Amino acid sequence: MARIRVLTVFGTRPEAIKMAPLVKELEKQTDIFKSIVCVTAQHRQMLDQVLKLFRIYPDYDLNIMKPNQDLWSITTEVLMLMKEVFEKSKPDIVLVHGDTTTSMAAALSAFYARIPVGHVEAGLRTFNKFYPFPEEINRVFADSLSTYHFAPTETSVQNLIKSSISSEHIYKTGNTVIDALLHTVENNRADLTYIGLNPSLKTILLTSHRRENFGDPIRNICKAVLELTEKNKDIQVVYPVHLNPNVQEPVNELLGGKERIHLIAPMEYAPFCTLMKESHIIMTDSGGVQEEAPSLGKPVLVLRTTTERPEAVEYGTVKLVGTDTQKIVEEVQNLLDNPQEYKKMSESINPYGDGLASKRIVEIIQKEFAAKIG
Ligand code: UD1
Ligand code: UDP
Repeated sequence: MARIRVLTVFGTRPEAIKMAPLVKELEKQTDIFKSIVCVTAQHRQMLDQVLKLFRIYPDYDLNIMKPNQDLWSITTEVLMLMKEVFEKSKPDIVLVHGDTTTSMAAALSAFYARIPVGHVEAGLRTFNKFYPFPEEINRVFADSLSTYHFAPTETSVQNLIKSSISSEHIYKTGNTVIDALLHTVENNRADLTYIGLNPSLKTILLTSHRRENFGDPIRNICKAVLELTEKNKDIQVVYPVHLNPNVQEPVNELLGGKERIHLIAPMEYAPFCTLMKESHIIMTDSGGVQEEAPSLGKPVLVLRTTTERPEAVEYGTVKLVGTDTQKIVEEVQNLLDNPQEYKKMSESINPYGDGLASKRIVEIIQKEFAAKIG
């Protein structure tokens, strides 16, 4: 019997982390699948960190990243370059992930080539096309262009139905991020001494990189961090700073060299998971971190006003605080001063998956394609 040719395409750090368990699952079953990996390298260094950890060796590397790139260049390069990858690799199905411009453009390119697309992490929505920008429209497009929808939660299943996606190929699978997290936490205990954290202080972990937070919002976040560390001598803040120059510049200008504020390079995934586990509070605008932290029992304050991941907000372990300096200070201070409040938010919950999402997705692809391949 011919093998099912599955082309997995991804380009940024979060896509790589969330697609890695799926690639590994496909690679286990060489009698059934021919796994082909294409990275666009929309991110370069931050992608390579993940490829190294999970030992993924791409068959195609489009190497598109440019300093301070814009949405037009990512879209057009991925759209055009994927054409040749499809011609050479002849996939039966193309898998894309989530809401990046890589995912949207690769899905469009596959659609033009009339190759069926499977969308992993389908159905997330804020229903506001500018928040997050451009991710909300990227995922709406990716969902429309796809034939197979791998939705992580019941909410995402319902969002797809609301978006008029045919229910015939909507599958609730859980989020592959939990597969990656559980595997990494189980197999690695990373050494964090290089950061120089003081073990007798409470650690607040901060990440922020969203486009809609560029400019004043990110400056407001930094001002909140300054105020909090000045007021609370028993805390330290660690911020692995995203390589985007729109993040690097304001963060280094406002927080560089300040007492008990550690600005560090983006971390490899394994030490980052250890750091999440060892932190007292997490402040973030990241999608992936919002999904991971609740299962580690860490309170998360989200530096955004909307989220496409409402599940942990409903459980009460994640709270939307936005980017107003005083509001952030107030919310963090409340968690520092109020043990009841802290306890309520630090319950360990896992609404996003059980670690078996990749297995389910691979089983579904096998069922869908076995007959077609013959
Ligand atoms: C992208 C995604 C966003 C995702 C985020 C995860 C889009 C439009 N945005 O945003 O959805 O949440 O990744 O981190 O798809 N850079 C480097 N090295 C790297 C990575 C980035 O130098 O390894 C710098 C480059 O100057 C690059 C810039 O960051 O041009 C911006 O990268 P880009 O992928 O366009 O935007 P992100 O903000 O990373
Ligand atoms: N992450 C990492 N190193 C870091 C910061 C984050 O490995 O220094 C991981 C994090 O655990 C999560 C993913 O990167 O799995 C999230 O990526 P990011 O915040 O860049 O993107 P988003 O999820 O917002 O799209």
